[in-house]
Parts: sequence; structure tokens; C-alpha cells
Amino acid sequence: MLFSQRVFCGQITPDDVGRKVLLGGWVDAFRDHGGLLFIHLRDRSGIMQIVFSPEVASADLCQRAASLHAEYCIAVTGEVKKRLAGTENPNIETGNIELMATELTVLSESDTLPFTVSEKAMVPATVDRSADKVAEDLRLQYRYLDIRRPSMRDNLMARHRIFQCVREFLDSKGFLEIETPVLTSSTPEGARDYLVPSRLHPHNFYALPQSPQLFKQLLMIGGMERYFQIARCFRDEDLRPNRQPEFTQLDIEASFIDEEFIYELVEELTVKMFAVVGIKLSRPFARITYADAMDTTGSDRPDLRFGLRFVDVTDVFYQTNYSIFRQILQRGGYIKGINIKGQSEMLSKNVLQNEYAKEIAPSFGAKGMTWMRSEGGKLESNIVQFFSNQELEALRKKFDVADGDVLIMIADPSYAIVTSALGQLRLHLANRLSLIPANSFFPVWITEFPLFEATDEGAVTSSHHPFTAPDRIDFDPKNIEELLMLRSRAYDLVMNGEELGGGSIRINDRNLQRKIFAALGLTEEETREKFGFFLRAFDFGAPPHGGLALGMDRTVSMILQTPSIREVIAFPKNRSAACPLTGAPSAVKREQLAELRLLNLGAQDLLLGTAQKGNRIDHLSWVSRIGISAKERPVMEQILTQAEELVLLATQKAGKEEPIRNVAPVTNHTRPGTEEKRSALSQTGQLLKSAPAVKGNYYKVASILE
Ligand code: AMO
Repeated sequence: MLFSQRVFCGQITPDDVGRKVLLGGWVDAFRDHGGLLFIHLRDRSGIMQIVFSPEVASADLCQRAASLHAEYCIAVTGEVKKRLAGTENPNIETGNIELMATELTVLSESDTLPFTVSEKAMVPATVDRSADKVAEDLRLQYRYLDIRRPSMRDNLMARHRIFQCVREFLDSKGFLEIETPVLTSSTPEGARDYLVPSRLHPHNFYALPQSPQLFKQLLMIGGMERYFQIARCFRDEDLRPNRQPEFTQLDIEASFIDEEFIYELVEELTVKMFAVVGIKLSRPFARITYADAMDTTGSDRPDLRFGLRFVDVTDVFYQTNYSIFRQILQRGGYIKGINIKGQSEMLSKNVLQNEYAKEIAPSFGAKGMTWMRSEGGKLESNIVQFFSNQELEALRKKFDVADGDVLIMIADPSYAIVTSALGQLRLHLANRLSLIPANSFFPVWITEFPLFEATDEGAVTSSHHPFTAPDRIDFDPKNIEELLMLRSRAYDLVMNGEELGGGSIRINDRNLQRKIFAALGLTEEETREKFGFFLRAFDFGAPPHGGLALGMDRTVSMILQTPSIREVIAFPKNRSAACPLTGAPSAVKREQLAELRLLNLGAQDLLLGTAQKGNRIDHLSWVSRIGISAKERPVMEQILTQAEELVLLATQKAGKEEPIRNVAPVTNHTRPGTEEKRSALSQTGQLLKSAPAVKGNYYKVASILE
């Protein structure tokens, strides 16, 4: 039979009984029952049991089948047969049928495997996921074997179907898929850039995009109206389990829209993506302001699948005699707590005092933790005697206390410490007490973020990015207090405590954009230097626009409920941002660095190429003492670039690392046969070391030398 006639294992059904088919795939498992040999043949679609029986197969075929090993790549021809009653295998979809082999070709042999690939037992038994126990770096080193495992294959297939669903949906809504450059200049998302040196422009670098933010806004200014891209983004930031140095965003932008358009669109899309694997999300998604989220859960990405919301009890203790609380409140502090309903049996005095108050709460940054348990209609704890009846009664009311409830409270002069410590305790308790319902999803929009955050230097920085629209425009860019009060038109999509996506309505007014840059402390010149090309576009009728980016690795991982985003990425980096398969990042040869002019850079702040570019005409004009007019500058620039290219070519041709100074070969006529060599004295510092004075970057020399 020919490969063109090959069918997939998973396509064969009991309707095919009696049909002769050709299958191709890998030996997943085998079982030798004396003269009868069974193998599981696996391809991308599933597994089919193949039987080599002396009844239908020749002795030679049975002998060859007996020499098969795991992961041999083979082709088998045979007839589909219904399995005998009692021999069905519910572990595989084709468990009611099998193939009686009549032909076998070994297409390619396999070495002994570094770990087991097979996951489907041949006899009805529990599913074997032994590869889950293999060290992750080994799995990543042999990722091509790892993705042969049905569970990894399923993840990648589901990812594909989710991506297809995204494309179909956005296309149906009039969005165009447009690619933006990967070799670009820095995009302000707050992480470090990955830089790519340019060979043609020595000492100049491209930056890999942290997101397509600037380009998608330029596409709106370009009148594209509705854009999306499944974009690879690169961020050199500290790694966390849900972060990869390179990851995939679904980047969306639209014009003439407001927040409601984005909520509607993204909710509809999210519901569709989850439906790909049969998960039903209900709409509309909840919305909660940033301030409320912080106030009640201590997090801007709250997990709302369970309660344990914070209750503010600061006002209960304004007159308290309990000195710890009194001192904290005198310093303008806060007291917040959680009622852990009906858990007093699980949280003994010992656990609350010795584990939570002494160990766990301090590890989350709190200086201490107060706890109380309600028993026999009374609140009790190790310090309950310090509180008045009035205070205890007020607590019962505020926390809606019933017997069996446990209260925990954190007090601190800092709002950030109270909310952060209590937020972490909230998650810790929810996990410990198994309060998080399995298979549940709680999407929520977080809105009204602060536009700016304070920096340690007493200035402000953008919470999102500097193109996010503020909630009002009549602010003073120099008034830090006022700036910190501003809210933005940004929104995050959060689910189960994970930030899936974020975006905002953008600024489309050039003056407002300038005002934001001024608030960020950027001078006109710095702004021009960083975002000049971008701001210029706003001089030509920028439409109102906004968008969002969904982290697709996180979203797919959430849909498939995998323990890490690496499980839904074909070739991810490991926990230390390296690739155990290819060895990236790896050292490069000196020649490669030389070609890129990255050797002997010294300790300059800004590399020559970048620094000189701006002012080399001025420099030339100064050293040559010729005035170069504005009209002549472009011509001069062109000549210099050509000269540079010529030098570069000649340098490469001569196989030198340092740029050569003579394009034509140099011969020493005074001392024939001596090699061309740069004099040690030619170093400026050497030659001019006895100059009478140094002024700025220049040596002051006698006028005759000048
Ligand atoms: P933001 O920086 O919030 O927004 O990124 C959008 C989403 O991308 C995902 N994400 C990551 N996923 C894996 N690894 C990472 N290192 C990583 N970093 C971010 C998150 C996040 O919510 N330009 C804006 C979007 C916009 O304003 O339209 C942006 O990139 O799920």
C-alpha cells in the first residue's frame, strides 16, 4: 500500500471492521503472549492495537514484529477486526477494535528512551503518566519525545484549536491579522529589552518587542480600525512560574471604541475559547475596581472563587485600650481582618498562635496577627481580655460572627503591609482548608487602576504604560500628589488569581500625551529621542482607540488547567530562562562578536555608534573648520554612511576586528617588509599626554599643533 492510502489510528471505528488499512506511527507499547504479539501503535490521532498472529501473519512477519522496540517508527498493513468480548480496552478510543497485521515495515529504529513516552496501558488499568515524574529539564532536553506523549500532544492540539477559534472569531468581527516587526526599537512595558546587535550599523541595536504596543497604535493612526495579532513578545524580567522570557500575546486594538466595546468583545471571545474544551463561562464577567480589589482581597488579581474577603475594622478600635492597636492607629494605621467561617475545628488555638501568628503571618511581612475564635456565643483568644465588650460586640457585628468562626486580624501603620499580608494569608488559608472549588473559573475585570505609581525618588512612573488615557485631563503634571490620585482607563482581565490580559483606552490627543510625558519627568528632548516617531504620528489626526493583550500561554494553561504555562508551549525555556534542548543562550565565537564590533567596547556609557550618529556632522564641521549648512547636511550624512560601509566591507575582507583605516593596502616604503601596525603613540592620550591642560573632552595644545 502507498502512504497516500495511510489512515490515522484514531480515525478507525467499528464501522471499518473488515477493511484493509495502512497505518503509520510509533510503537507505544507491546505485549508478547507466546506466539501472539500485540503492539500499541501510536500516531497523532490516537492508538490502535495491532495483532501479529500466526493465523494471518507469516512466520517471518511474526519474527520481525518480535524484534520491535518502543518508539520504533513503523508502517503496518492489516485488516480491522472487532475485539473479542472481554478483551476491550477502555483506556483508548479504539478499544473495541484491533488490526490483524499482514505487512510490517520498520521505517526508523529508536535508541533506548531517556524516559517513558507511553501513557496508555495495554490492559485495562489506570492511565500511566510516568513522564510527569521525570525531571523537567530532561523532558525539555528531549522535548520532541516529550511531545509524543498523548497528554502533551493533547495540550498542543488544544492550543491550536483555541488559536483557530480566536482567528475565526476576530475575523468574524472585522479584525485584520497584521504582523508587526520583531526587530524594532524599545517598547515601554517596564521590563528589560532583549537586544540584537546590528552588523550593518555597528554599535547599534535592535530591541525585540516587549509587546507590539506602539505599532498597533500606529496601525490605528494608519486607519486599519480593527487589528489583531498572535504576537511573540520578549521580556528580560525575573522569572516566575507564569512567565516566560518569550511568550505569546493575543494583541488587539480598535478605533472609535470605548471600554464597553473591549469588555463585550473579550468576554465573548473568552467564552468561546473556554468552550473549545467544553468549559462554560457565564457572562457578563464581574467588574471590580482596583481600590475595591485591594481593600477586600489585598490583590489586584484577586482569586474570587472563594470568600474570605477582608473586613475593615479600623474604626472599631479608635478608642481601644489594647496598646498594640492603639499605637498603630495613632500612627494613622489600619486594621483589617477575615472571618474564616465555621473552621474553628480546623484552626486550633495552637495552629493560630504558633503557626499563623508566629511564623506564617510574619513571613508575609506582618509584624503580628491577632486571632479570635467564636465559641458558646463568645469570642475567645489569648488576648481577648484586652478588648472592651463594646469592641467585641462591634467585631461580632462587622464580621457577622457565628459559633465555629475564626477571626484573624492584621494591624499595621502601612496600608500596603496590611493588605499584602492579609492577602497572602487569605490564599494560604484557602489552600490549607481546601476552600477553592475544583474546576471553577471566576473571570473578573479589574478597573480604575491608578494612572501612576510613586517611585522611590519621589517622582511617578506609569502603572501600565504611558499611552494609557487618564480618567481626567485637567491635572497639573508637576503636582505629584494630584498625579497619584489620577485613575486610568486601563482594565485587566483576571481569572482565579491570574492576570490573563490587560489593556486600556489610549491617549489620542498629542497635547495630553505630552502632558503625561511631562508628568513622568521626561524633557521634550528625552521624549523626542525615545518616542519621537510615535508622537509625530499623533500630529496627523489620531482616532480615539484602545485595546488589550491576552497572554495566550496563560489563557491556554488556565483553560487546560495545567500546573505551569510551560506545559502548553512546545519549546519553552526552563526556570532559569534557558533551553535545555538547544543549549540557548550560548556563548558565541570571537569572530562573530568581531563582525558585530562588540569586542573591546571599553566602559563607555553610550557606544560610539549611537552617540556619534546624532552629532557626527557637527563634529566633522568642527574638526574640519568648515561650516556645513543645513542643506548640505543630508549629502554629508550620505557620504559618511557610504564611507562607513566601505570601511566595514574592507575590514571584513581583510579579516580584521578593528575597523581598518586604509581601504587600499598599505605598504611601508621606509622599512619595506615591515607589517602595518598602529603606533602605540597614536592613542590620543599618549600622543597628547604632555599637553598643558585638558578642557572637557579636549586637550589644550599649542596653537601650532592645533
Ligand atoms: P501586559 O504587559 O499586561 O500588557 O501584557 C499582557 C499580557 O501578557 C501576558 N504576559 C506574559 N505571559 C507570559 N510570560 C510573560 N513574561 C508575560 N508578560 C506578560 C500576561 C499579561 O496580562 N501592551 C500591553 C497591552 C495593551 O495595552 O494593549 C501589554 O503588553 O497575561
